[in-house]
Amino acid sequence: MRNFNEDNITQAVLSRLSGCKDDRTRAISEALVRHLHAFVKEIEPSEAEWARAIDFLTRTGQMCSDTRQEFILLSDTLGVSMLVDAINHRFAGRSTETTVLGPFYVEEAQDLPLGADISHDADGPPLLVRGTVRDQRGEPIAGALIETWHADDEGLYDVQCSTGRAALDMRARFRTDDNGRFWFRSIVPAAYPIPNDGPVGKMLDAQGRHPYRPAHVHFKLSAPGFETIVTHVFLDGDRYLDSDVVFGVKDALIERLGSVDDEPDTALLAYDFVLPDQHRQG
Ligand code: BEZ
Ligand code: FE
Repeated sequence: MRNFNEDNITQAVLSRLSGCKDDRTRAISEALVRHLHAFVKEIEPSEAEWARAIDFLTRTGQMCSDTRQEFILLSDTLGVSMLVDAINHRFAGRSTETTVLGPFYVEEAQDLPLGADISHDADGPPLLVRGTVRDQRGEPIAGALIETWHADDEGLYDVQCSTGRAALDMRARFRTDDNGRFWFRSIVPAAYPIPNDGPVGKMLDAQGRHPYRPAHVHFKLSAPGFETIVTHVFLDGDRYLDSDVVFGVKDALIERLGSVDDEPDTALLAYDFVLPDQHRQG
C-alpha cells in the first residue's frame, strides 16, 4: 500500500502490526498508534513544534543518570504515575491507600532498632513517628518491614545534599514488634520542589505550574503473605495539599501533627497502616 495521507495512515500503521505474535505487545502497539495519531490530529503541530517536542524528549533522556530519572518525573508531573498506581492498587476492603514511590527511595537503607533517631541529630523540629501495621481483619502484623524516608526541614533529601554524604539520614528500615507497633524519632519534614532544573522544570514553567510537593513522610511496608504498600503520610495544614505537583495526595493519607506527653517540643505523627492480603497468583 502507498499514497498515505491524513485519512488512511493510521489504519495503514495498524495493519502493519497484524503480524505481531505477542497479543499484549500487539494490543499495546495498536493503542499507542491510535492515541498518538489522534493526539497529532488534534494539535496539528507545525514542523517547528514537532521538532521542539522531539528535542524535549531528547533532553529528558539526556538528563537521566544513575541518580536522576527525568522520565519518571515527567510521568509523575503528568499524573501518569498516579494513574498507573491507581490501576494497580484496586484493593478491596479497608487497606492503606497508595501513592507514588518518588525518586528518593534507597534500597540499601540502614536497619535500625525501634525508637532510633533517623535524623542522626539533624537540626529541625523534633518528631516522634509511631503507629501500627495490621491486616484487613485488624490483626497486628509482627515483623513487618517498614522502610521510611523523608526530606529535612529545608525540604532536602540526604541524597540531594551537596556534601555527598551517604544516604543514611532521614531514612531507615524497621521491623514492627510482636504487637505490630513501630516508632522512631526524626525531624519534621518541610514541603519541597521536585528537581526542576531540567526539561520537566521548564515544562512546569511553561504550563504555569509550581514544582512543590506538600510535606510528607514516605513509607514502604511489606510482610510475607501481604501486598507491599508504597505510600506517604502528609502533614495536615500544608499549603500544597491541594496542588501537589505529582497528584499524590489522598485525604486518608493526611494526618495532623499531635503532641507528645512530657515532650512539649516534640511533634507526634501517628498513623496506623493496613496491608491487603496478597493476591492469589493465576
Ligand atoms: C517524592 O515524594 O520524593 C517525589 C515524588 C515524585 C517526584 C519527585 C519527588
Ligand atoms: Fe518525597
